[in-house]
Amino acid sequence: MIRAILTVKGGVGKTTTAMNLAAGFAYAGRKTLLIDFDGQANLSNILLGDQLPEKTITDVMAGKAEIRECIMPTRVRNLDIVPSSIYLFAIERRMLQETAGIQQFKLRRALKSLKEYDEIVIDNNPSLNMCSTNALCACDEVIIPTIADKGSEDGITLTLEHCKEILEQIEGVYFDYKILITMLQRNNTDRNYCERIHNMYGDEHVFKSRIRFQAKPVKDAGFQSGILIDNQKANVAQDYRDLIEEVMEG
Ligand SMILES: Nc1ncnc2c1ncn2[C@@H]1O[C@H](COP(=O)(O)OP(=O)(O)OP(=O)(O)O)[C@@H](O)[C@H]1O
Ligand SMILES: [Mg+2]
Repeated sequence: MIRAILTVKGGVGKTTTAMNLAAGFAYAGRKTLLIDFDGQANLSNILLGDQLPEKTITDVMAGKAEIRECIMPTRVRNLDIVPSSIYLFAIERRMLQETAGIQQFKLRRALKSLKEYDEIVIDNNPSLNMCSTNALCACDEVIIPTIADKGSEDGITLTLEHCKEILEQIEGVYFDYKILITMLQRNNTDRNYCERIHNMYGDEHVFKSRIRFQAKPVKDAGFQSGILIDNQKANVAQDYRDLIEEVMEG
């Protein structure tokens, strides 16, 4: 199964979710590949530290490398990564000029050649562009993280419009979507937000598991190149373990 973690909104937990979901799959014995499809390369930095990748997803999108050449193992068993680089932003612009019918299927074609993975998780940049189109054309499910702040609902609407356009306009593409509420705080604004999202999109399109706001364990895991779900004390780690269970049951 290929899952894209994607929304136009920045800083809503996409990378944290991609990372922990993938680690959860790997811990469950599923051979898992993380694709860092964001020029910010946050995921690559967290998982690879000082290790400099020779080839990245940018080279694949530029037609200069096969995806297999870019795969790097991580210290988590069963978990590999295809790293990213800042040049992905430049390639994104160049892809726009390529022939329709080829430009949007580059990632899908590349992933088709990787039969050995049970799970592929794609982390994305917070924008709707040719890269996100590629991720959507390649995936079976898009997970849309959201937080209760100003503009979040518009972020979901815009992201789903982009999804709908792709589903309607590009032949042979099908994916489902599910919204994940993250960084949830204990106040009325957040409680009302959850209720609105469930009412607007229906329970089948919103994860039951919600990720609570707890900054320190998330930051610490990032800085120490650790895996958040290894933390047995933090609520936010338990929330991610619950999410993994829900995703694997689903
Ligand atoms: N549940 C949480 N509670 C508190 N802080 C969190 C939580 N999840 C993520 N964060 C913090 O919020 C910030 C953004 O998280 P993350 O990088 O996962 O978001 P993102 O959507 O990938 O951002 P971007 O759009 O820039 O790629 C990070 O500093 C991270 O440590
Ligand atoms: Mg990110």
